Amino acid sequence: MIDIEKAKLEFMNYVKNYDQENKMIVLKISHSLRVMEQSKNIAESLKLEKEQVDLAILIGLLHDIARFEQMKRYGTYEDKKSIDHGNLGAEMLSNLSFIRKFVSDDKYDNIIIVAVKNHNKYEIQDGLTDLELLHSKIIRDADKIDILYEATESFWYKESEKDFIDSSEFVSDEYFAQIKNHKQVVRKKGDVSRIDKIISYMGFVFDFNYKYTFKTVYEKDYINKIIDRLDYRSSKSRVKLEEIK
Ligand SMILES: [Fe+2]
Repeated sequence: MIDIEKAKLEFMNYVKNYDQENKMIVLKISHSLRVMEQSKNIAESLKLEKEQVDLAILIGLLHDIARFEQMKRYGTYEDKKSIDHGNLGAEMLSNLSFIRKFVSDDKYDNIIIVAVKNHNKYEIQDGLTDLELLHSKIIRDADKIDILYEATESFWYKESEKDFIDSSEFVSDEYFAQIKNHKQVVRKKGDVSRIDKIISYMGFVFDFNYKYTFKTVYEKDYINKIIDRLDYRSSKSRVKLEEIK
């Protein structure tokens, strides 16, 4: 049995070990709680039985458990500059005394660990069991919905502060080719231009697994909102939607 309320209490206790004055920590706590809700919505949309819905919720809560340690140790959430937070999370949860704080039954351990490990990878590893695959897909979709939410609603700034972009910034050929092939973008190492960053968010849609995810992102209009974050001063740097269909 999974006791979600208990897991949530333990999570809130655990994050107290990290600097609550750090805005980045606070943002990640809220992200975890919202992803938990989205995981629940996806699992329910799939009409899963209660035990599996609860497991999806728990994985949503724990998927970014390594973020707090990552911020403390490295001062960044950029995996490429620090550590792969999916792998670190899986490693932390492989410690039995740690995972038992959140769930008393050990029968879900493998699924939780595998889903956390796979949540942030370009693609899901091969050779998973049906349940490991199901929960990896759910958490990947739930996480993406919230990343798009953050990119539009919560990190949004006023129209007057809108960033403008001129013809000196282009979509890189690499990113453009991947979108045209309906592929999620493989993110480059190092600094990425603002326009490529937007393109990589848009590419999430090619990795969605479930109808609920498409529907939510469509209804919330996240993709258009992300495009509208920038003020395109020159048509040269504008990505025409017809071109990526
Ligand atoms: Fe996440």
